[in-house]
Amino acid sequence: MSRDLAPKAWRRRGMESRGLPFYSADDLFRIKSELRDGAGFALVRGIAAESADAGACLLRFGQALGRLLPQNAAQETLVEIADFSDEDAFDDRGYRSPGELHPHTDPPPLIILLCLRPARVGGTNRLVSANTIRQEIENKRPEFLPVLEAGFAFFMPDEKTPGGGRSRDVIPILIDGPGGLSCIYYRPFIERAAAVNGTKLAGNSIAALDYFDRCASDPDLLITYTLDSGEALILNNYRVLHARDEYEDWPEKGRRRHLLRLWLDADWLPDPPPAHAGRRNPMAAML
Ligand SMILES: [Fe+2]
Repeated sequence: MSRDLAPKAWRRRGMESRGLPFYSADDLFRIKSELRDGAGFALVRGIAAESADAGACLLRFGQALGRLLPQNAAQETLVEIADFSDEDAFDDRGYRSPGELHPHTDPPPLIILLCLRPARVGGTNRLVSANTIRQEIENKRPEFLPVLEAGFAFFMPDEKTPGGGRSRDVIPILIDGPGGLSCIYYRPFIERAAAVNGTKLAGNSIAALDYFDRCASDPDLLITYTLDSGEALILNNYRVLHARDEYEDWPEKGRRRHLLRLWLDADWLPDPPPAHAGRRNPMAAML
């Protein structure tokens, strides 16, 4: 049965009234359409029947959807998302700890998160459309749009030196490209770039970022979903920001929240605007 695609600029009420975009794993055509032309995210069931070979199943599914991208300096294409805070001496990338993650985009064009086990409590994902955020800013505080379109210097961590890294070029937060709007946003790295450069963000820059955050966390704009075992969330990072509630886990490692993650590029997605071209090879130009 065909399902009308959700619009690119959606709000919670509209998204909930039409139903969240759920697909079965073999419905690749509609998954791609939803990611490219619709809501910009898809909830998918049926990727991995057995958790024992979930990694292999997810890799196969990812390769059917696009091209696997390395996610770290070790060039891993399949990464575990779990609470490693009792093992990590230093965490530069928040997915290895159970704290809240504020609204952001991930570096690559597409991300897939497959849930093997949810947390004991919490870990809900929040999603918001970048197009809706831009509409909201345009309607209510249009003076902030040029600030966000001009962009900010972003910090680029050096994985080999805990806490180390450098500031890289200015990158627009919101910019139009051949396929429409493209958004890159991770505020901690904007603030760290300013610190590395020994500069302070201007007052109107902070106000623009605060307003962007406020829209990205507005309950009327965002939808929430807690992945259950066997469910996957696929995100078009050009178009959808995500956040995650903090979670409480079981003390036993074998029962803890456990997700698998892929980063993908795909030739069925439009090219990003030149200022965001780095996201097609994120480990070469990491955000
Ligand atoms: Fe993320």
